[in-house]
Amino acid sequence: MKESILVVDDDFSALQMVEQFLKLKKYDTVSCLTFRDAKKELAPDGRFSAVVLDYFMPDTTGLNMMREIHLVDPELPVIILTGSRDIKIAVESIKQGAFHYLVKPVDPDELYHALENAIKTRKLIHENRRLKSDLKTRYKFDSIIGGSGRMMDVFDVMSRAARVRSTVLIMGETGSGKELIARAIHYNSDRAGKPFIGVNCAAMPETLLEAELFGIEKSVATGVSERIGKFEAANGGTLFLDEIGDMSLSTQTKVLRAIQEREIDRVGSSHPRKVDIRIIAATHKNLAKAMEAKEFRQDLFYRLNVIVVALPPLRDRREDIPAMVEHFLARFCAENNLPVKSVAPETLTRLMEYDWPGNVRELENTIERAVALYDGAVIGVDGLPQNVRSRPASAAVPSTPSLDEPVHDLDKAVEEFERRIILSALERANWRQNRAAAELGVTERSMWYKIKKLRIEIKKGEGE
Ligand SMILES: Nc1ncnc2c1ncn2[C@@H]1O[C@H](COP(=O)(O)OP(=O)(O)OP(=O)(O)O)[C@@H](O)[C@H]1O
Ligand SMILES: [Mg+2]
Repeated sequence: MKESILVVDDDFSALQMVEQFLKLKKYDTVSCLTFRDAKKELAPDGRFSAVVLDYFMPDTTGLNMMREIHLVDPELPVIILTGSRDIKIAVESIKQGAFHYLVKPVDPDELYHALENAIKTRKLIHENRRLKSDLKTRYKFDSIIGGSGRMMDVFDVMSRAARVRSTVLIMGETGSGKELIARAIHYNSDRAGKPFIGVNCAAMPETLLEAELFGIEKSVATGVSERIGKFEAANGGTLFLDEIGDMSLSTQTKVLRAIQEREIDRVGSSHPRKVDIRIIAATHKNLAKAMEAKEFRQDLFYRLNVIVVALPPLRDRREDIPAMVEHFLARFCAENNLPVKSVAPETLTRLMEYDWPGNVRELENTIERAVALYDGAVIGVDGLPQNVRSRPASAAVPSTPSLDEPVHDLDKAVEEFERRIILSALERANWRQNRAAAELGVTERSMWYKIKKLRIEIKKGEGE
């Protein structure tokens, strides 16, 4: 597509000259002898890529024109043409937001350069804005799928976390969405415009990790060159310490100091540097156990344990699976320019029954694969990988009992089903019987009775 340039000059021969030159350079042009005419051409639709403006016009001045142009399209680059004695005006125009100025008579090559630069800059600004808004929608809370009660609790903690700068600890199995949650908190906080920097603490040996986190001081003696660490790179923003449970004890000590004092020492440096960061840490490990085993520092744990997001594994929020399937189907079909596919009811049943040890990431990969490999518009069970396709042993199904097999003892089967319903309600309620009773719509008394009758063992929950 040709770039279109608006040229405004009351000097007809100058206008013609510029117009001819721009045509030669394959631009589209619209030429106006008055600003009144030019104004009629302006619209905030990005029709023009740049404006070339003669400063002195009979009906107004360049500064006024530029102001009016920017009211319509604040990012439209304006190139001002002035006489050689009007350098002050030129400088003032630049101050007021002109992209460039050129002295008349205009040198065609200079004009061409200025225009190319202006167009390039405008494109960069647009691209940047698009990327930023992409990030915003990608990490908007509502692009995180989950209508289950467990996820509602997660969203609630997340939105509180986004409003403050307190340290957040995200715990969850592999692939359960820890990083997604961390980014969402960052991009919904007042630090959104600042960097989100992630470090995987499990991926490297101790000395490398410390250099990575804290940076290296330049040393003239050893010829070591300076390197900025992630703490400094994240300044003003958020530092995401992924797999913090795998960090060595000695690095933990240094991280604790950085969090407490809000300052860091580069490796090989003796003067501390101030940093302003919000920490979000994540781990798939049970930190309480790691603490007992003396693998994780207690004081660091309490520093991190301010706002805690406990991400449930996917098998504990199966009711979220249909919405996720739909979300991933739409995404992968769009990415591959395919018409939107769907899954057959039987396929969805299998997807809901499977235990998902790899959690959402495994589900995501399964759908991506099915979209890519399955020919029909409605994905059948044969579009699923073997392990997902095969029915699990019925004992592993907590939701509904399999009716494919004949039942020989009705009372026992019903009892077993009842037991599973109560167990899963108890688990969701963190083993608080009153809450589970409320969820199931029974009285606490009858809940207590059923628990005894079914000999359900009550585990101690956090709330006890
Ligand atoms: N609730 C959700 N809604 C939509 N997509 C999700 C959700 N949870 C996770 N995902 C997607 O699943 C994938 C895995 O998530 P993520 O990388 O955040 O998990 P993780 O817990 O950090 O995994 P790991 O422990 O392996 O690092 C990502 O592509 C993420 O976008
Ligand atoms: Mg991760």
